Amino acid sequence: MKLLNSFNLKGLKLNNRVIMAPLTRARATNNVPNDLMLKYYRQRAQAGLIISEGTAPSPNGLGYARIPGIYTPQQIEGWKKITEAVHREGGKIFLQIMHTGRVSHKDNMEEKAEILAPSAIALEGEMYTDRNGPQPYPVPGEMTIEDIKQAQEEFVKAALNAMEAGFDGVEIHSANGYLADQFLNTATNIRKDEYGGNKENRSRFTLQTLDKVTKAIGSEKVGIRLSPYSAFNGTEIFEGIDEQFLYLTEELNQFEPAYLHLVDNSALGSPDVSKSIFSRIREKFNGTLIMNGGFTKEEAEKSISDNKTDLVSFGRPFLANPDLVYRLENDLELNEPDPDTFYTPGEEGYTDYPFFAEREVVATK
Ligand SMILES: Cc1cc2nc3c(=O)[nH]c(=O)nc-3n(C[C@H](O)[C@H](O)[C@H](O)COP(=O)(O)O)c2cc1C
Repeated sequence: MKLLNSFNLKGLKLNNRVIMAPLTRARATNNVPNDLMLKYYRQRAQAGLIISEGTAPSPNGLGYARIPGIYTPQQIEGWKKITEAVHREGGKIFLQIMHTGRVSHKDNMEEKAEILAPSAIALEGEMYTDRNGPQPYPVPGEMTIEDIKQAQEEFVKAALNAMEAGFDGVEIHSANGYLADQFLNTATNIRKDEYGGNKENRSRFTLQTLDKVTKAIGSEKVGIRLSPYSAFNGTEIFEGIDEQFLYLTEELNQFEPAYLHLVDNSALGSPDVSKSIFSRIREKFNGTLIMNGGFTKEEAEKSISDNKTDLVSFGRPFLANPDLVYRLENDLELNEPDPDTFYTPGEEGYTDYPFFAEREVVATK
């Protein structure tokens, strides 16, 4: 079975091609990774590669309640324990750097933090806050050029901090309507300067950030996530979207990232993606591709066999099955994820999903 074959990710040996997709779980205490999170990640260390939950590079990038950051010594220390635990189990782990941009609320942030985005357009709807329950999304401040440079430096610093914390690499989150994707999308970017107005300009923030981060820690340690056709967080499908993502893909090549991670969000209720965009990106991209979104074992196996992708990442299946690799290997039944506990504090629906009995014996030894 190809899915279980090892893979050489630019010199990093992955034990298999079953990748754990980034999953925000909102269990960090005061935005600092803790022992409960350590347990959760250690349980899933059998993955060929774990990509961590979206993690804020700075106070401005931390929009959700209880998500972790990677900008204070305590946060770096907390993550260090987690990377050590995963490595002890023979696993590998990248940190996903997620700057939330306008998907944010003051009640979830430090006093000094600012909510900034490419354009001053609020997301419709409400953001959950621990302090005051659901609150309308605010109108973000439009970023100045200085703000843009600062946000990019925050990604760089976060990547350096991730290295200090022992991660094998980082993933730049340029998907799902967060800051970098807010630059990519016409619903969230109506700028008239060199960061908006056409595909080259809308792609500039992502490409410059990738350039800076690869220079800081090495291209083999930097992956990037994109979600063409995602309608997440108020992004839209716009005229010329295919051309933009194909342009972006071609430009990515010069930085030789560790991988490109593509999300097909139709599995999570987004409009059905024109599937050809993925094969066209596959053709244009010179490096390793990870595909994600609603994959079963059979579909993952077939996509790898048909050379549509190199690796497949699983989100909800990993959330609900700490021993997913073992279960796929042995064709065992999977636990179902419980959406009610995706983001709630505590162990329930987090570290208490059962291992398949035989494996539990091994895991607790
Ligand atoms: C609870 C939950 C949290 C998520 N958090 C993140 C995140 O932090 N970063 C990210 O890029 N995607 C996030 N996603 C999207 C997943 O990485 C993945 O793209 C999605 O679940 C589809 O894959 P699946 O069908 O295998 O679950 C999240 C999804 C879920 C269900």
